[in-house]
Amino acid sequence: MIRFPSAPGARVLAFLVLLVSLPALAAPGRVAVSSAHELATAAGLEIFEQGGNAFDAAVAVSAALAVVEPASSGIGGGGFWLLHRPEDDFSTMVDGRETAPAAATRDMYLDDDGEVVRDLAINGPLAAGIPGAPAAWVHLADRYGTLPLAQLLGPAIRLAEEGFPVDSKYQTLLNFRAHIMLRWPDTAEIFMPGGDIPELGAIIRQPELANTLRALAEQGFDGFYRGPVAEKLVAGANAEGGIWSLDDLAAYEVVEREVIRTSYRGHELITASPPSSGGIAIAQILNLVEPYDLAAMSRVERVHLLSEAMRRAYRDRALYLGDPDFVEIPTDMLLSPHYAAGLRAGIRMDRATPSAALAADPSLLPESDNTTHFSLMDGDGNLVSATLTINLPYGAAYVPPGTGVLLNNEMDDFSAAPGVPNEYGLIGFEANAIEPGKRMLSSMTPTIVQSPERVAVLGTPGGARIITMVLLGVLDFIDGNDPASWVSLPRFHHQYQPDEISLERGFLTEEEIAELEALGHEVTVRARTWGNMHGVMWDRVNDRVEAAHDPRWDSGGAEVRDSR
Ligand code: DON
Repeated sequence: MIRFPSAPGARVLAFLVLLVSLPALAAPGRVAVSSAHELATAAGLEIFEQGGNAFDAAVAVSAALAVVEPASSGIGGGGFWLLHRPEDDFSTMVDGRETAPAAATRDMYLDDDGEVVRDLAINGPLAAGIPGAPAAWVHLADRYGTLPLAQLLGPAIRLAEEGFPVDSKYQTLLNFRAHIMLRWPDTAEIFMPGGDIPELGAIIRQPELANTLRALAEQGFDGFYRGPVAEKLVAGANAEGGIWSLDDLAAYEVVEREVIRTSYRGHELITASPPSSGGIAIAQILNLVEPYDLAAMSRVERVHLLSEAMRRAYRDRALYLGDPDFVEIPTDMLLSPHYAAGLRAGIRMDRATPSAALAADPSLLPESDNTTHFSLMDGDGNLVSATLTINLPYGAAYVPPGTGVLLNNEMDDFSAAPGVPNEYGLIGFEANAIEPGKRMLSSMTPTIVQSPERVAVLGTPGGARIITMVLLGVLDFIDGNDPASWVSLPRFHHQYQPDEISLERGFLTEEEIAELEALGHEVTVRARTWGNMHGVMWDRVNDRVEAAHDPRWDSGGAEVRDSR
């Protein structure tokens, strides 16, 4: 699998020596949960009340989000759960990413002229990878939890049965996808009864999803991946153009991946490894900018320098990254200080580097804020940073009859054709081409940062922009700020192609934008905000635990409580 470079490894060792040489630091004694929905946060707190640990709570929060935030993640999708246990300094990434069905082919979304048919790549069951989320919940509970799976799924089953009230995020994201969902009236009836976007406060009940969750609770992996639920999933997917088989489901495997570790200015980062591109990209960006004093720079200089670093990391993402079980990723090279020095040599502070001058190819980018991230900590300091998705809002917009399982459209995260952008404007080549059983490259970047004094858990949805949002959050934490600051920071982004810096409205003044343009940057101010970051922090020195949710959406829930 992936190998890890010696230089950051040595830095991590130095950090650990520093950590153990300090006086023993007490456990936080409090629990904290920050998620995109207050009912999911409540589900995590309920499990803590029942004596569960962080890993138990992570299962409950994930399953509850699958019910109450159907636009963003779910039992029909996948994700990455980054775990950290301070007791033995153990970290791992539970990879529950979807896989391509065995019948998938690299040209499956191309028409006779070789053009990508976008509709097939994102709408309906042909767009769906084999779900990984339910297998990951079972894995988390069996391997790291302390309570039975049935107890952890209890809140989600209750929410699916009794229903939850529609909020503005539910409505906003459904607006993007309602016209697609209406192609499948039985699916639409679940999420838009009567064919309309439901009113605020309307109650959405999902009894079939409750039954599927119950099968999982009672039978574990087999409750979803074998037997009646699996049969209905395959029949339903294939009746509408899918290519799933019972073997695809039965063969699904969760993989534990060694995390990416790097250090930056006295802090250790523990972050997502491939098939996420996020950890490597963030480590590359931090390596590139470490010699510069960001704090001494003007905002324009800082945005310029970071954008130049982002541009280079996203170029490498397009060229080199994919499922590590299928492609040889040159991780050592990408994270080596020498490689960073070589890239840094091409950065000029007085001028933008055109992306076209860095070998590869172009395209476009829409806005979107589905997917979901939660961060949590238990009273012993165990941490979970998890980013989960079904890809676009409401995924493939299709539920195989009788299952309540809204399918993902994650196949669009593969590169459907070399250099042709996906829904997030991301391009890729051979490394991320479609192959049976392969995991599609992701940008999801659940992250943990620690220094001897403070610990941060953070992440966000946001497609291609996840990586840069997490980067900005990490830098803000390292600057000494609290979660309320990281989650609300104004955001900017560069992803190599399209060759532009995009800004959230109101971040930079007209004069600052003109200065960036004078350096040769194309600058686009986006009409919409992006991201939905959820963060938790433990300040060991001042004995403070804080949790914050992104103010861009009002549905989030962030709470800190004394642990039992
Ligand atoms: O795994 C990925 O990178 C994407 N499927 C995430 C999609 C996402 O964040 C959508 N939200 N804006």
